[in-house]
Amino acid sequence: MEEKNQAPASKAETLSIKSSPVGLDIGTSRIVIADSPVNSDIRSQMNAFVAVPCSEMAENVLKQRGMVYERNCKNIYVYGNDTDFFASFLDTDARRPMHSGLLNPQEEMSQHIMQRIIQLLVPRAKRNEVLCFSVPGKGEGANGNLVYHEAVLKNFLQSLGYNAKAINEGQAVVFSELQDENFTGIGISFGGGMCNVSVSFMSMPMITFSVPKSGDYIDRNVVEVMGERNSTKVRLFKEENLDLSRQPKDDMTRAMHIFYEDVLQTLIERLRAEFKRSSQLPKVDRPMPIVLAGGTAKPAGFLQKFESMLRAGGEFPIEISDVRMAKDPLTTTANGCYIAAMSESK
Ligand SMILES: Nc1ncnc2c1ncn2[C@@H]1O[C@H](COP(=O)(O)OP(=O)(O)OP(=O)(O)O)[C@@H](O)[C@H]1O
Ligand SMILES: [Mg+2]
Repeated sequence: MEEKNQAPASKAETLSIKSSPVGLDIGTSRIVIADSPVNSDIRSQMNAFVAVPCSEMAENVLKQRGMVYERNCKNIYVYGNDTDFFASFLDTDARRPMHSGLLNPQEEMSQHIMQRIIQLLVPRAKRNEVLCFSVPGKGEGANGNLVYHEAVLKNFLQSLGYNAKAINEGQAVVFSELQDENFTGIGISFGGGMCNVSVSFMSMPMITFSVPKSGDYIDRNVVEVMGERNSTKVRLFKEENLDLSRQPKDDMTRAMHIFYEDVLQTLIERLRAEFKRSSQLPKVDRPMPIVLAGGTAKPAGFLQKFESMLRAGGEFPIEISDVRMAKDPLTTTANGCYIAAMSESK
């Protein structure tokens, strides 16, 4: 009854409704969207695809299963979350639009497929809403191609009607996890293609960098030393079984431990070197926290391994208060981008 008496919103009121910001994590392995303050609303798609020659039969299988696909005159492309199923159905490896955190120059379909995957998650903007998307920091192999990667994605997101802004991935981890510390601390994302780090003071990134080694590097090397054929199988084994707190009992797990340690060693050495090199860091009056995020940080025992390797290297250039895991390592970057987009929208 009350509803009947309410006056409809005036035009001025309608126009003043706050536009809703979007956070988008454009990762080598997965693309993740956060477009509401509710963490459970975060959605993702795998950043991968499979191409098969056009045939009635293949298309019928896809239609029956309600899978997302696209066809041109030569091929059918299955992309996003249906990729793993279709790749194992065909006993083949998926193709990847990104490599080591950036558009994959060896993949001719990279931009086209990524646009399709992004469109599965991101609707057209209504009123030039702010959309913050993640980009990696500079590093070995990420320089000019980083400028290109960022510009291509920004153009595409602008073509969907957004006010698109790039956010460093390590800084997104800080935005998501270090609100109570005034956004002061070290955010690290251990992703598929790379590790990204930001050392932030009062929400300002003072040191940012990337290391082109992470989950894919571990998979690739385990495949090679174990003489395996199928890297999807190795990745799924890692995601389902790996526990870094236990002594490995088989060769595959032993190899995984070795390459995990290799990734961590490289990252920690680089972090030390960056602090030593950096001359104009502001003085902090209290020890800094470190937050770990990203899919590669998911296995049990990862935090303990990181801490013990950090300590094993001797005194660290700055005082660390604690090392902790992000609340949900797979959605941290998207959440941080959403928080950045919210503050830009105010
Ligand atoms: N439970 C798990 N155990 C181990 N590894 C995992 C687990 N879940 C995901 N991964 C690995 O995490 C990586 C993907 O992580 P994430 O989604 O954070 O990467 P991304 O953001 O797509 O990549 P990047 O940030 O490097 O561009 C893959 O290598 C995947 O195999
Ligand atoms: Mg990532």
